[in-house]
Amino acid sequence: MTSSPAQRLADELAQAGALPAEWRTAFRAVPRHLFVPDAFWIGDESPLEPVQRADDPQRWLDLTASDIPLITQVDDGATPPGKPGRYPSSSVSQPSLVAMMLDRAQFAAGHTVLEIGTGSGYNAALLCERLGEANVTTVEIDLDVAERARAALTSAGYKPAVVSADGEQGWPARAPYERAVRLLVAGIRDAAQCSVKRVEHVGRTTLPRRHGLLTLCRGVQPPDVAPRVS
Ligand SMILES: C[S@@+](CC[C@H](N)C(=O)[O-])C[C@H]1O[C@@H](n2cnc3c(N)ncnc32)[C@H](O)[C@@H]1O
Repeated sequence: MTSSPAQRLADELAQAGALPAEWRTAFRAVPRHLFVPDAFWIGDESPLEPVQRADDPQRWLDLTASDIPLITQVDDGATPPGKPGRYPSSSVSQPSLVAMMLDRAQFAAGHTVLEIGTGSGYNAALLCERLGEANVTTVEIDLDVAERARAALTSAGYKPAVVSADGEQGWPARAPYERAVRLLVAGIRDAAQCSVKRVEHVGRTTLPRRHGLLTLCRGVQPPDVAPRVS
């Protein structure tokens, strides 16, 4: 039987040791391509290569099922789709980074979670798949981004609470949360933007840093792996 792009991605990550066993089912189930726009950019250095679905649908699909970040906005929106970009300003995060962050948060069945920064909605879909959509609240500051994420989540079959708001102060209306996660694109220019001033939860907060993850704990034991901060 032919495997789906999501299944192939999950199996590749697992073989590379980049996907914890408890997340494998979720990664195999969530079709990443539903969360990716028709035009994006790839690459680590300027100029960033534009990729358009209409130009080569199979390559577009293959890239959505690859362990790379897909850059969905460049140059803070100044450069249109199809043109080379100078720097990434928004992206669908790299699956292995997502897996590392989710692993570090040490979820268990029934946990409630607050995600700050819905972005594409892919991470929220993974959380829905593992924890159940009733336990997932995701906050996105950009109204258009939140609307697109809601549509993508619905098309993939998930209905978590997607809130259009500034998540810096958390989202008290659905508190308390047992976990809080925030995922920003690797290599973001100002890693200090990752700070969360107050999250009304009891549990573990995982924040990415330029070369690792910082895990903050409140009311739970520290993680097995020592947090790394750069
Ligand atoms: C890298 S994306 C998140 C990736 C996302 N988890 C995914 O699966 O695609 C970061 C998102 O955080 C949002 N964001 C930045 N600051 C925020 C804030 N204070 N509150 C809520 N969302 C915020 C940005 O608009 C952006 O969409």
